[in-house]
Amino acid sequence: MRILGIESSCDETAASVVENGETVLSSVVASQMSTHGKYGGVVPELASREHLRAIVPVVREALAQGATALGDLDAIAATVGPGLVGSLLVGLTYAKSLSLASGVPLIAVNHIEGHIHAVVMESKRAGTPVQFPALALVVSGGHTHLFEVLEGFLYRLLGKTRDDAAGEAFDKVAKLLGFGYPGGPVVDRLAPFGDPLAVKFTFAKMKGNALDFSFSGLKTAVLRWVEARNMTSEIEARKALRRENAAPSIDEWRAVTPQTTLDLLASFQHAVIVELLTRARSSAEEIGAQSVIVSGGVACNSGLRGAAASARFGCPIYFPSLGLSTDNAAMIAAAAFAKLERREFASLDIAAEANLRLV
Ligand code: KG4
Ligand code: ZN
Repeated sequence: MRILGIESSCDETAASVVENGETVLSSVVASQMSTHGKYGGVVPELASREHLRAIVPVVREALAQGATALGDLDAIAATVGPGLVGSLLVGLTYAKSLSLASGVPLIAVNHIEGHIHAVVMESKRAGTPVQFPALALVVSGGHTHLFEVLEGFLYRLLGKTRDDAAGEAFDKVAKLLGFGYPGGPVVDRLAPFGDPLAVKFTFAKMKGNALDFSFSGLKTAVLRWVEARNMTSEIEARKALRRENAAPSIDEWRAVTPQTTLDLLASFQHAVIVELLTRARSSAEEIGAQSVIVSGGVACNSGLRGAAASARFGCPIYFPSLGLSTDNAAMIAAAAFAKLERREFASLDIAAEANLRLV
């Protein structure tokens, strides 16, 4: 069974061919990082235009690399939501036209379910499949959600962020300090040079659902910390560095980042990690999880991976490989495999949904 997956919900145009929900024959990702980087975040109109430019060559390359012709496919899967509607429309419309032209059925996939299936697929392939019930922490630039995942891929939402997503907090803090977009990777690389306990951040106690997250207070605390100090010249030095060099090395960043700022970054990252793992552990206990899945762009974070490995969850904890943690289309094809087995096809008039929920 071969599925072509297409993903275009945010700022990556991606296509992939996956066999039997398990073997990635190809995974092509065209990133728009260089387009959005200079604006400090994703510009929706530019994103749609870049998707339009990339979609045909990216899909063609994925099919070629996977040595697969359209006629060899059992399904064509596309992300239907959540995401930027103009971006979603490009991938979904292209998937529909391929389906119409080839007679290969269409499958609609929720992007969040895709992130979960990145882990399900890799764990199957490795011969150590995820056991259910599983606790899934989906943590990216757009989402910070905790789900219970039951056999047959039934989901129950246990908690979510009430304001910013964790990746968004990384991006906003990095932008404030002059590190540019996206913020997660650079904070991740610099945090080991700072003291994670130097700046004490406190999290407000959540009223209502104790498994919900909130990251806006942490972001404001960083803002206050910066305002209380004169950091203009170091921030300007970092912006100047980025103008000269789109991808500075760690040594170049460190040359324009004093120890106090490295301590701030390390403490910020530490606070996010503690917040994520504390609520993940409580949720895992609550549902009697047999495994824990962490996925989404923030799952790339090496501090989070290290802390998760030493946190006692009482069951195996799975992260995707780095390439399958951030947005990609293999995860969309993998999620579609379970739907193909249930013959859950989409009609060609299905609409993209910016705020689509998983449950
Ligand atoms: O899953 P993803 O590619 O797109 C969304 O669905 O949002 O996640 C992108 C997010 C960005 O906010 C980025 O800063 C964050 O993931 N990210 C990281 C790291 N790599 C990417 N955050 C922390 N540490 C990283 N190493
Ligand atoms: Zn994502």
